Amino acid sequence: MASGAQKSRLSIAVVGLGSVGGGAAGSLAAAGRHDILACTRQPIARFTLERAEGTVELPLPVLTDPAQAKPVDWVLLCTKTHQTAAAASWLARLCAPATRVAVMQNGIDHVARVAPLAGGATIVPVLVYYNGERLAPDRVRLRHAGSYDAVVADDEPGRAFVDLFEGTPLRIVRSDDFATLAWRKLLINAVANPITALTMQRQAVLRRPDVQELCRGILGEAIAAARAEGARFAEDEIARTIATLFNFSGELGTSMYFDRLAGRRLEVEALTGAIVAAGERHGIAMPLNRALLTLLRAINDATAAKA
Ligand SMILES: NC(=O)c1ccc[n+]([C@@H]2O[C@H](COP(=O)([O-])OP(=O)(O)OC[C@H]3O[C@@H](n4cnc5c(N)ncnc54)[C@H](OP(=O)(O)O)[C@@H]3O)[C@@H](O)[C@H]2O)c1
Repeated sequence: MASGAQKSRLSIAVVGLGSVGGGAAGSLAAAGRHDILACTRQPIARFTLERAEGTVELPLPVLTDPAQAKPVDWVLLCTKTHQTAAAASWLARLCAPATRVAVMQNGIDHVARVAPLAGGATIVPVLVYYNGERLAPDRVRLRHAGSYDAVVADDEPGRAFVDLFEGTPLRIVRSDDFATLAWRKLLINAVANPITALTMQRQAVLRRPDVQELCRGILGEAIAAARAEGARFAEDEIARTIATLFNFSGELGTSMYFDRLAGRRLEVEALTGAIVAAGERHGIAMPLNRALLTLLRAINDATAAKA
């Protein structure tokens, strides 16, 4: 790993070469400025990234055994949130106190989730806005979904993360109110993911008037909890969130919808679970989010029983 502050070629390990990790690892490897290592559960020979800027085929170095890993300058943790504990053996080998761990996962609890596993490394929460789609274990399609691809806090580790992606097509921006943005992203996930997964319908289901009414109720509870936690929302945050949802095509699914279709565990606790937990901390009643949480947990328990 880097020994001097001026070292510019850095070692970066990407844990979880899925939709988000594949997009990040492929973009960094194609730019060629740093040494990229993919930490996966299955070996792959080559990695292909499909993107608007052109498809690239990359000879990405891969490790499948955490015991062979050594400390690196950066870890990009790109598993689903509920797979974080399973990635602990990677973090234990890859992290030293000078390591930075970019947590490229949804939710609001990046630091609390990962710091206990990272051996004193600095945790850098990242909000991911690009759309990644894992087409195969060795192939990911990356789409830009808005005017930026990821957001970090406007602090020194955040600036270092922005530097990492210089020369790649990924547009990383800094925010001086990361907490509010994290909650704002959680609001989108809090309605789109559970409702599409529970109804097993794509996002067009959100356009039904009765479902919109339900969305407003779910959002009202979540916004009250978020404000109590310090999020600085607009007066009309519910209407804004619904408008943002309607910018997406009704044909799109959500990750929870696709996970349910595939019989995989759903990312519940970091999304609806975090909202209900925040409500509990502040004594805010959350009947709708609690109902969603109960149903989603029941699906996860049934999935686990089949595994
Ligand atoms: N997809 C998107 O466009 C998008 C956008 C914004 C935010 N997010 C968020 O980003 C996070 C990652 O989501 P994703 O869509 O990238 O998930 P994903 O496609 O399911 O990828 C997760 C990857 O982690 C790997 N993994 C799990 N445990 C591992 C372990 N112990 N060691 C090594 N690899 C391990 C999985 O490998 P296996 O193949 O072996 O299971 C898989 O390749 C989530 O919090 C999600 O909500 C996703």
